[in-house]
This record gives sequence, C-alpha cells and structure tokens, in this order.
Amino acid sequence: MIFNKKKYSWNDLVLNKDLSYQNKLNLLLITYFEKDHFFYFDKKEQKLFSIIDYLIIKQKLQKLNKQRDLNLICHKKNFYNLSLKIKKGVFIPQYDTEGLIDLVLENEDNKKGLEIGVGTGAITLAIIKNSNNIMDGIDISKKAIKLTKLNQNKNNLTKARINFFKKDLFKLKINQKYDFIVANPPYVAFNDLFLTTEVKKIQPKKALFAAENGFLFYKYLIKNFDKFLNEDGTFYFEIGIKQELYLKKYLLQFKNLTFYFAKDLNNIVRFLIIKKSKEK
Ligand SMILES: C[S@@+](CC[C@H](N)C(=O)[O-])C[C@H]1O[C@@H](n2cnc3c(N)ncnc32)[C@H](O)[C@@H]1O
Repeated sequence: MIFNKKKYSWNDLVLNKDLSYQNKLNLLLITYFEKDHFFYFDKKEQKLFSIIDYLIIKQKLQKLNKQRDLNLICHKKNFYNLSLKIKKGVFIPQYDTEGLIDLVLENEDNKKGLEIGVGTGAITLAIIKNSNNIMDGIDISKKAIKLTKLNQNKNNLTKARINFFKKDLFKLKINQKYDFIVANPPYVAFNDLFLTTEVKKIQPKKALFAAENGFLFYKYLIKNFDKFLNEDGTFYFEIGIKQELYLKKYLLQFKNLTFYFAKDLNNIVRFLIIKKSKEK
C-alpha cells in the first residue's frame, strides 16, 4: 500500500466549530501524542500528523463521540509526571490520587515503602521517580502486575528500586516491616447508590468494592499496624468522600494511634494519615 506524504493538521480534523467537540479532540490529541499542552495554540504541532496518525485519530474520535472513555480508547494516561499504559480490566488512575502521592513525597525519603493494590503502578512509580525511596507493591490482579511492569519500562524506571508481586493483602506474609504503606484500596460499599454507571462500566469491580460498607481494607490494615509497619511507620490512605466520620470513630478505639485527615484540591477530605502516638 502506498501512503501519501501529505501532512495533516488540526484543521483537517476539526469538522465543526462546536466547542465541546474541539475540547474532546484536543484532549484526544494530547493523550494520543503524550503531550501536555494544547495543540490548537501551537503552530508547529499543527502540521505534524501523518496519514496513519490522521486515520487512527479519526477512528478514536468516533469512539469518543459514543461516550467511551478517552484513556481506554488511547490506552494511555498522563498521570503525575508519568506516561502510563492503560488496559481494560485494570483500574484507571484518577487525578485525585495525585494528592496522596504529594503527601508521601512531602514526608518520606530514603525509606522502604509498600503499596497495597498497585493497579497500573501509578502511585509506586510516581514515588520512585520523584524520591529516593525503595518500594514493594502488591495487587491481587495478575493483569495489574503485568501492566505495572510494562509501565515501569515505559517510564525508564527499570533500574529503580521496585518489586511488584501478585498477592492478596489478606493472605500476605511478610518477613520485614515497612517505614510507610500507601494505599488507594477498593472502598465503595456494595450497596452504594451514588456510583455512576460510567465508572461501573470502565473500572473493574475488584478495584472498586469492599466489604464492611467499603471499610474492610482500612480496618484490616489499622488492626494489623504492628504486623506491617515499623514503630515510627506511617499509613497513607486515600479514602472515599464522606468516609471521614466513620474512620475517625473507628480510629479513636486505638489509643496508641494518632491520625489526621487531609483535603484534595477541591477542598474535600480524601486522605488519611496514621502513625503511632509518641506520648506514653
Ligand atoms: C482503587 S484501585 C487502585 C489502583 C492504583 N493504586 C491507583 O490508585 O490507581 C484498587 C486496587 O486494589 C487491588 N486489590 C483489590 N483487592 C485486593 C487484595 N485483596 N489484595 C491486593 N490488592 C487488591 C485491585 O486489583 C486494584 O488494582
């Protein structure tokens, strides 16, 4: 097959002046070409598309117009300062979680950490890329662990200090304790009425739902503080909207623990940090 050498531009793809269509196209191009700026305003970028890119983008745009998820269509997501490969069946990282990574990076360096439920590897890889910490990461999903390794390579972090394992948290036996544990675990109650059908359609069930009204993972880890963490170790958890009150009440039973909640960029309480109390 002979391909013509004509270069295609933004103008060839913009079929109408509808702003939401143009925004969609812009996001698609940013994700597809792994860029971090708006194509529309960049004169140099406007002449870059080959016929192959042009045809692929047109096809993806059609899928996007049918309400399918942009990251799943492109199999890519830019997250923190990583470029991640995305696959159906593995949780697509959400930007709220970047706040959890900030909290870890503000407080931990040259330490040994563990992530529970790594998904694409987003949290662990961002920590490794931006600090001198050493990380282990586990996930119950074989597909997730395979993808974390792909993402490790894709982000040139192969020589870095990471080990990913396919393990179930509730059967995990460890022969060392960690300085910190970070987790964005499944935290949605099975009977949650507010979860949108869109989320249910694109995210795997195992990544979303947890028993005990969504609190199973937090309660298990908190009860087992001494099994997993060193004496001055720290838990960093992402929590669901409105889970603060219940967790506060639960934690007050543990007289030896001290904790605080942190907010995301929308001023909503989404993170929980737990340590051992210092006073005797
Ligand atoms: C909400 S997702 C978070 C993924 C990733 N950390 C992120 O923030 O994008 C929760 C992850 O926990 C994993 N998971 C569920 N049950 C688990 C278990 N019992 N042990 C280990 N991982 C588990 C899921 O497969 C999923 O990848």
